[in-house]
Amino acid sequence: MTSIDKARLKAQAIDTIKGNDLGSYTVPTRGLYPFQWNWDSCLTALGFAHFDEGRAWTEIETLFANQWPDGMVPHIVFHVYSDGYFPGPNVWQTGRPTPTSGITQPPVAGFALRRLFERVTDRDAAARRAKALLPKVDAWHSWFHAARDPGDEGLIAILHPWESGRDNSIDWDEPFARVPTEGVTPYVRRDTDHADPAHRPTKEQYDRYLWLVEHFRSLGWDNSKLHDASPFRVVDPGFNAILIRSEQDLAAIARALGETEIAERNERRATEGLAALEGLWSEAHGQYLCRDRVAGKLIDSASIGGLLPAIAAIAPARAAAIARRIEQQGERLDYVVASHDPADPRFEAKRYWRGPAWLITNYLIADGLAAAGETATADRMVAASLELIARSGFAEYYDTRTGEPCGGGSFSWTAAMVLEFLGD
Ligand code: DGY
Repeated sequence: MTSIDKARLKAQAIDTIKGNDLGSYTVPTRGLYPFQWNWDSCLTALGFAHFDEGRAWTEIETLFANQWPDGMVPHIVFHVYSDGYFPGPNVWQTGRPTPTSGITQPPVAGFALRRLFERVTDRDAAARRAKALLPKVDAWHSWFHAARDPGDEGLIAILHPWESGRDNSIDWDEPFARVPTEGVTPYVRRDTDHADPAHRPTKEQYDRYLWLVEHFRSLGWDNSKLHDASPFRVVDPGFNAILIRSEQDLAAIARALGETEIAERNERRATEGLAALEGLWSEAHGQYLCRDRVAGKLIDSASIGGLLPAIAAIAPARAAAIARRIEQQGERLDYVVASHDPADPRFEAKRYWRGPAWLITNYLIADGLAAAGETATADRMVAASLELIARSGFAEYYDTRTGEPCGGGSFSWTAAMVLEFLGD
């Protein structure tokens, strides 16, 4: 057991965030990710709230200043050109005033916004800044339902693995095999200059990531066409649960600010989403699974995407089953939560989202489990997360067996989660 000096960890976490702060937005880490990433920023804002409330609001405001006219909030905003990352703006070619990518990311903004709104000490700023963001986050939620659930199933589909944030999850192996690799413009990866290639997605996966980008680009990034035109359409329970939670949280802020229409719309969608999520439950696995919307079937892959629904108001029995899955992992691993079931032969301890643990998913799941009364598991997750940081620093992610830091270092959202775990 590593001893934990909380004051020191807190100071290090603040320094890590400040080191990645470019004034009105943070980069996830210098080098590997030199721009603003959507869900990184929203979660990093929670870290800022512990030492600079004004800056916390700015982080989210900068992201939403780059929202598309149709409501989508892109997954990357390329504020300042850097050739250290691929694919950059010249590949995406989305035609935005400040260049952005053309896909989105898990919508944690509503969740983060409520946390800021309820917690910050400057109440006037909270009311003013939350009120201005409210319609923008609501428009993003509406965009998801219009563009990604055209059949009105109550759940939305992602069209690119990068949208999930879990880029190379085993969840995508089967549906991704449908995406061709022929004809992709030759390219040079930059991620492997900054991180160990053995910790990163493979060349074949990159070819497919790029094929999808070029395919969507050829359709003019027209979101009324992309869903039906994509060979990759997957309903991810974790992504949907984050949307549902953000809808509930946005509704709570809207009620507090007297915005009844926004509140009712988001409450209704969250209720419908929770009911539809039940269709992704697997008794055999004791957790949720992804659904391949093209093939019309559940994907036999027990990943962290099926544990993340703890963050939404799922039935207590479902939350208890997820807690059990995490306790089972703890019998095999020193550090939970693994991004994929360690009992699955496809598990890879160090490769990005095919096994390693991430502090942000620990945070989201622990938050949900605590709210569902699964406090023993949630407390163990928080303690193990802090021990991991004290031992291995503020890495992007960690080998769950050894605690070895993997991927990039000095990570903003890892630091932000540490500040959240330590509290005030
Ligand atoms: C990357 O480039 O690795 C990102 O995860 C894509 O957003």
